[in-house]
Amino acid sequence: MSAHNHLKRPIRKAVFPVAGLGTRFLPASKSVPKEMLTVVDMPVIQYAVNEAKEAGIEHFVFVTGRNKNAIEDHFDLQPELQDTLAGRGKTEMLDLLAKHQPEAGRTSFTRQQAPLGLGHAVWCARDIVGDEPFALLLPDMVMKSNNRGCLASMMDVYNETGGNIIAVEQTTEEDIPSKGIVAPGEKFGTGFKIEAMVEKPALEDAPSNLMINGRYILQPEIFSLLENQETGAGGEVQVTDAMEKLAGQQDFYGYEFTGQTFDCGLKEGFIAANIHFALDRDDTGPVVRKIIEDALKG
Ligand code: UTP
Repeated sequence: MSAHNHLKRPIRKAVFPVAGLGTRFLPASKSVPKEMLTVVDMPVIQYAVNEAKEAGIEHFVFVTGRNKNAIEDHFDLQPELQDTLAGRGKTEMLDLLAKHQPEAGRTSFTRQQAPLGLGHAVWCARDIVGDEPFALLLPDMVMKSNNRGCLASMMDVYNETGGNIIAVEQTTEEDIPSKGIVAPGEKFGTGFKIEAMVEKPALEDAPSNLMINGRYILQPEIFSLLENQETGAGGEVQVTDAMEKLAGQQDFYGYEFTGQTFDCGLKEGFIAANIHFALDRDDTGPVVRKIIEDALKG
């Protein structure tokens, strides 16, 4: 296999790091994983899984931790519930559950034994992912796309370029110092070359206003870089640091997502996601609009 083809192998697996403590969402996240909090009527984690499914992902790898069993249960069958629904003739509800159910053998769960950072969580998936490129989705980041999902659009870029892909979107000056920011280069199809990336830059050092928004396609060489990495900002193993090293050996491309991303690890992002998704749905839109209008009238 030529070096070029090696970097264009199909993306079959997606990694979902869900081992974080969710301290910014206490007390809600004390015994309920923050990824199981609901946006309208679906847990946060289901949005990322559905996005991955739309992009053609075949195997879903969850890096969980203690107190996160509800996530594994959510993706299993619930025979008593299904029997009861069937007995009551609730076929619509049964179809809905089936739609969100991964096939047997298509999920894997491993535990990050201590919350040593996102980079360490990704590294914990190394044996399950093996020697193939994979998608990485941070489930906290719930994305509302205008048509095609963010990861599906990244796959389009990958099919043209291969290598590593990072989704980005425009952010405000106020938010730049708390985000990962990329320096965009030459255009490639629906994407562009990434010249540099920098974690949490001071505003004057930021190379653009394009922030890394929580969706990646990475080559497996990232794992050995994560393994040998010192801890970075906040005493945690950072993915951006390892990606910067990998960028010395392989190409990175960007895809600019034009939908909306809600950081559901933050109270305001979580509330915004609920409002936007609820307003957008036929079943909840009209009534929620009325509730908001009434509330604003005071
Ligand atoms: P965050 O930093 O947003 O999550 O990590 P957190 O650590 O749970 O949040 P706070 O700061 O305490 O409120 C982004 C993603 O990485 C996962 C989180 O679960 C989240 O999906 N993560 C983070 C891990 O899996 N392990 C870690 O050690 C850290």
